[in-house]
Amino acid sequence: MEKQPLKIAIMGAGAIAATHIQAYQQFPDLCQITAICDLFVDKAQKLADEHKLAANVYQTLDEALSQADFDAVSICLPPDAHCETAVTSLNAGKHVLCEKPMAASLEECDRMISAAQANGKLLSIVCQNRFKTPMQKVKALIDQQTAGRVLFAAVNSLWWRGANYYDIWWRGTWEKECGGSMTSHAVHHLDLLQWMLGMPKRITSVIANVGHDNSECEDVGMAILEYDDKIAQLTASLVSHGEAQDMTFQCEKGRLSIPWDPAVNKALGNGFPEADQQALESLQEAYANLAELSLENHPAQILNFLRAIQGEETLLIDGNAGRNTIELIMAIYRSAALRQPVMLPLTPDDPFYRKPSMNAIMPRFHEKTRSVDNFSTSKITFSRDVGK
Ligand SMILES: NC(=O)c1ccc[n+]([C@@H]2O[C@H](COP(=O)([O-])OP(=O)(O)OC[C@H]3O[C@@H](n4cnc5c(N)ncnc54)[C@H](O)[C@@H]3O)[C@@H](O)[C@H]2O)c1
Repeated sequence: MEKQPLKIAIMGAGAIAATHIQAYQQFPDLCQITAICDLFVDKAQKLADEHKLAANVYQTLDEALSQADFDAVSICLPPDAHCETAVTSLNAGKHVLCEKPMAASLEECDRMISAAQANGKLLSIVCQNRFKTPMQKVKALIDQQTAGRVLFAAVNSLWWRGANYYDIWWRGTWEKECGGSMTSHAVHHLDLLQWMLGMPKRITSVIANVGHDNSECEDVGMAILEYDDKIAQLTASLVSHGEAQDMTFQCEKGRLSIPWDPAVNKALGNGFPEADQQALESLQEAYANLAELSLENHPAQILNFLRAIQGEETLLIDGNAGRNTIELIMAIYRSAALRQPVMLPLTPDDPFYRKPSMNAIMPRFHEKTRSVDNFSTSKITFSRDVGK
């Protein structure tokens, strides 16, 4: 029997919603958008009109659930609304694709994962950067140990945002945005790091706010992640002009990196390095021989989500993948706030497992004093280097 196109509801009509809509629109045989929901209904209507959607608009999820017909929900809401929206949708029998960060706490992540399991529905967390050719190729080289074991990784999650970025009502607070540069931006690189290297056993970190006076949360941070047999270091920043980003994996037999810039050294008789041209060429060849993705970013993840709902593919990114990244972020915050290393996993009796007890401990770097309902533009830019 021919499968019917899946009906999709978009929750939130802000900046990232357009990216979701444009991705779903690439697969008209597989899906159609039937509902858009936003606190500001006029924004939902404008988005529907701009994309020529035959979708109804609603103000709340409850309205959409009671009046619209849909199979799956794309959650494009501020982070504090992710968990309740996902759990309510899953309990109503809908599949859920949720934007990053998955949720405000591990307790919220666990509720989302339990609701998906209890209702037999799919829960996927947006990690669009995994669906980029260089990410896939470097991950494959690491998995195949083409350059041997990873010894040391260095990640620069460097972004730039103007001070007015925090003027929108929900940003810049532990309550609603649920964090700063780690939660909103380095979340991408922390996801990639745990996808490629697995979870560390210990984390030590420092955070600060050096340039955003309308935010309670951090805009820079550094974390050291210790594994049994390697170490990783991540710098997160929202004050980095040019947004140069990179991930470098120093392995036993060469350097792998994103953007791709390999190197291989061999030792002289006294241990000093010289370039190993032959080994470099075979590393270049191994990279070149790996397949290119034909579809990248949100469209690639959304296609996997749709096909997984139809039972045609395995879901590539589930709730546990999103939870791992939240666990890294919570450990980073715990270490920074309490100024001590943190052992993983974090357990349910830890104050950093739950949002209220964590928020009671986190420093308020500044008081949020400016707030607007909406910006004059919903245009967003995506970083230059991530995944080149
Ligand atoms: N994957 C990425 O690269 C990427 C990029 C940007 C944003 N995001 C994520 O997307 C989410 C949304 O970010 P954004 O930049 O689109 O924000 P935004 O402020 O532009 O849009 C959010 C929209 O949700 C609406 N809203 C808020 N609470 C609501 C509620 N309870 N019910 C209905 N509508 C509600 C707001 O009115 C707003 O229109 C965040 O989690 C953010 O981290 C991801």
